[in-house]
Amino acid sequence: MRIEPAARVDGHIGVPGDKSISHRALLIGAIAEGETRVLHWGRSGDTTSTLEAVRALGVQVDEEDVDTLVVHGVGLRGLKPPGRPIDCGNAGTLARLITGILAFQRGSFDLVGDESLSRRPMGRVVEPLEQMGANIVSPGGGLPLVVQGSHLSGIDYTLPVASAQVKSAILLAGLAAYGRTTVHEPEATRDHTELMLAAAGARLTRRLGAVTVEQSAMLSLPEVFVPGDISSAAPFLAAAALLPGSTLTVHDVGLNPLRTGFLDVLERMGARVGYSNRRTVAGEAIGDVEVTGGDLVATNIAGPDVPRLVDELPLVALVAGMAHGTTRVTGAEELRAKETDRIETVTSALRAIGTHIESTPDGFVVRGVPARPRGGTIDAAGDHRIAMLGAIAGTVSQEGVRLEGAECASVSFPGFYDLLAGVAQAGEVGAAAE
Ligand code: S3P
Repeated sequence: MRIEPAARVDGHIGVPGDKSISHRALLIGAIAEGETRVLHWGRSGDTTSTLEAVRALGVQVDEEDVDTLVVHGVGLRGLKPPGRPIDCGNAGTLARLITGILAFQRGSFDLVGDESLSRRPMGRVVEPLEQMGANIVSPGGGLPLVVQGSHLSGIDYTLPVASAQVKSAILLAGLAAYGRTTVHEPEATRDHTELMLAAAGARLTRRLGAVTVEQSAMLSLPEVFVPGDISSAAPFLAAAALLPGSTLTVHDVGLNPLRTGFLDVLERMGARVGYSNRRTVAGEAIGDVEVTGGDLVATNIAGPDVPRLVDELPLVALVAGMAHGTTRVTGAEELRAKETDRIETVTSALRAIGTHIESTPDGFVVRGVPARPRGGTIDAAGDHRIAMLGAIAGTVSQEGVRLEGAECASVSFPGFYDLLAGVAQAGEVGAAAE
């Protein structure tokens, strides 16, 4: 696909429902009692894997509309072995969270995934779940794996890596574990599981750096409203920040403070970021965000910032490449365990368009040049976030980008390119970097 440069991006948009919350609504709705109505569900390749997984486990899900689902929960221990492998596709969140739930069901469950997911580590969830008494066979430390349901006991566990997926898998297993389960995290990570479990009536207590869940008899989650996905809004907001004269508003987007690190970084770099219409639904902050482009300056991003913008770090590198000064991202070695090794795929993608970026073991160093990058050919490498990075890189470049493997953006955001075409304004394109 060819992405032409735009003079600026303008307009008002909405983005699909948050992917993290959409997975959780299906998984928690499936083990609740009664119906869960999910509004503004984010339909994508990844969340379709979760929809098919819960159906395979015997849960009826009605699709009332493209983004309205009704999940007919079967209760905490009501999932049924499908008699064939459950395919997690490309979805790490599904693979990690469902393992925590299957650990206490009756029967045996096989999990498989695509090539990328099969390379990603599952030991990080298998190890704490085994400490709880789970029976999991994962010969290569990843997928495929087999979970044999068993009786679990609560644990007190300190996460070795800051991961919301691992935290969530343990908390979900904790719902059915004898006694209490406490997870300590080295840095605060997204808390959508905690908020949704609390809304569903789980006995959950939180203090700084730790969360405890007690064994629960039942959950009930009548309704989930899914805010727009800040990670899907981020590419558009990055383009608005980078192209002077742009003003872009994203409506009804999730503003959970553990997800808004990218907006803080844009502000720190000099973009104007405005918020309106703020409200909270079931503990999740929502609002409208408006970004106005202008001159940007470099910033540094270190360990504790990382979980708040982990999926936006590819965009941070692009933005840094067009800012005054040198930006350093450190403490982000987790990027190497994503759909691709994102330290390497981001570095290759941006070098291909003329950005001065070097990879380091735990991040990257970007020497910014406040002008448009030249453009060139970017390979998405099968990674949806790299595909969207490539499209935004093309939009803000001098000569445009030929994007190879563009279609994988649908893993998180079907319709991404149409929405981009709708906000990109033709006109005089500014100077290229030397
Ligand atoms: C997610 C957590 C993050 C994030 C992923 C979604 C979640 O992963 O990168 O896209 O929904 O919990 P980790 O928990 O592995 O950091």
